[in-house]
Amino acid sequence: MEPTFTFSPTLSKRERYEQFLSEYTVFIDGEDDWTTALANTAAALHDAFGFFWVGFYLVHDADWLHLGPFQGSVACSRIKRGRGVCGTAWAEARTLIVPDVDAFPGHIACSSLSRSEIVVPMLQDGTVIGVLDIDSDRLADFDDIDRAGLEPVLHHLLQTPASSALPRTCQQP
Ligand code: SME
Repeated sequence: MEPTFTFSPTLSKRERYEQFLSEYTVFIDGEDDWTTALANTAAALHDAFGFFWVGFYLVHDADWLHLGPFQGSVACSRIKRGRGVCGTAWAEARTLIVPDVDAFPGHIACSSLSRSEIVVPMLQDGTVIGVLDIDSDRLADFDDIDRAGLEPVLHHLLQTPASSALPRTCQQP
């Protein structure tokens, strides 16, 4: 049976991430198709946490991210390295938490309703191969609990058989 990714209302945010990770690892283990793995990861995060927008931008070549599987409204299809929150997280190879997107220099507004954002890089052998981008329509919606909850999800995603079949362009930014 597929997991439901629903939580008891009494759980804290940290506990929700813990439950999510335990269900997600069973759900995604053995997946050998990269597109399937990314699409179901975005859907699982969306179902579990009700994020306004959640999806992947994937390294396409030395300079550009291309939009990957996501849940939410139509979004920017290309982001240059070092630009916006996503391109900066790629260039700096670190998670960025932006409490107010209007205060982030160069923020790329795919939706005028987005108010805060977290971007987590996907690291494979020390190289960023893409980023997970999550937007909220509320200010300051993300904190270190989200970072600590999301980074292991991506770590696990990159342990699946799917990641060994990554396109060459993703492995060599
Ligand atoms: N705000 C992002 C662009 C992607 S959308 O939020 C989906 C950025 O500044 O990189």
